[in-house]
Amino acid sequence: MSLVSPPALRARILGVGGHLPERCVTNEELATRVETSDAWIVERTGIRQRYIAAPHETATFLGARAAEAALRDAGVGAEAVDAVILATSTPDEAFPATAVRVQAALGIRRGFAFDVAAACSGFVYALAAADAFIRQGMARHVLVIGSEVYSRILDWSDRTTCVLFGDGAGAFLLGAGPAEGPGLLSVHLHADGALGDLLYVDGAVGQRERSGFLRMKGQEVFRHAVVKLAAVVDEALAANGLDKADVDWLVPHQANRRIIDGMGKRLGLAPERVVVTVDRHANTSAASIPLAMAEAVGDGRIQRGDLVLMEALGGGMTWGAALARY
Ligand code: ACO
Repeated sequence: MSLVSPPALRARILGVGGHLPERCVTNEELATRVETSDAWIVERTGIRQRYIAAPHETATFLGARAAEAALRDAGVGAEAVDAVILATSTPDEAFPATAVRVQAALGIRRGFAFDVAAACSGFVYALAAADAFIRQGMARHVLVIGSEVYSRILDWSDRTTCVLFGDGAGAFLLGAGPAEGPGLLSVHLHADGALGDLLYVDGAVGQRERSGFLRMKGQEVFRHAVVKLAAVVDEALAANGLDKADVDWLVPHQANRRIIDGMGKRLGLAPERVVVTVDRHANTSAASIPLAMAEAVGDGRIQRGDLVLMEALGGGMTWGAALARY
């Protein structure tokens, strides 16, 4: 792809899609394996169940299904896709990137493809990259995917983490449209590596001994999430000269019901204007925002022209927000 001087462009959300593994695991089932209870998990997190991938349901497999759903929703063929940007912390292989595997699975043999590693903020980071490529005229149609199989990096003997996460994938097809039309208004990203030890995986392919398990200081992550998400949401609204009252829908990263409800209240949104999937999907990391969006667009809640606010925080520590006129 080459950089040419484009007319003023905006990245429009043409289609959305999601895909979950077949197997659903309830809190009750988990409680037969680790010392926990449905009551504890629901009270602290709002989670009631999660989907857990079978061996063949890899990040590539789930991501490709979600991408196909987004293309179907947009009514656009895979041959029109110029770029695939996939956010994941659980790639199938060190390389090639899962994005490239998805590209191949969709039969796309042109354009470019790469992965984004920003943990639970990965989808917002990937959106920012796609937005920039589209505005610069480097790509007209970009598949932005979040695909995760956290079940592979969970320590299933650690009840403080294994109850919180699930597997799944979600995708947007973005397409170039006129700058004055609907689409992504702005994306805002932040990172602070000094907080990297609050939430991390203690190994990877670069460390021979072990592939690693997720480790988290839950209460500290919670505290940072509340403060940092509030700040980045204010930043996104201010950058567009918009007010909290202008937001039609909050489509947040789905980590914890308490964090989500807190943000909804702070924005003065009626509870039915906050899209919640954490009760059924748990935390699917980079997949949670597009999965939630796919659900709320699919059932007719989010309509064309609505103002949608997306926000996420995750390991890194990374966080960000995006405002879109759907
Ligand atoms: N079942 C039963 N008891 C448990 C479990 C469990 N699954 N996990 C922990 N406990 C116990 C603890 O051992 C502790 O017992 P103790 O008091 O005897 O020591 C007690 O419950 C309280 O533990 P806390 O860690 O204080 O519980 P807290 O209310 O902080 O909830 C939680 C923990 C849910 C992890 C919360 O801190 C949280 O949601 N943090 C945000 C982190 C997050 O969501 N991370 C996801 C990735 S980042 C992101 O996406 C935002």
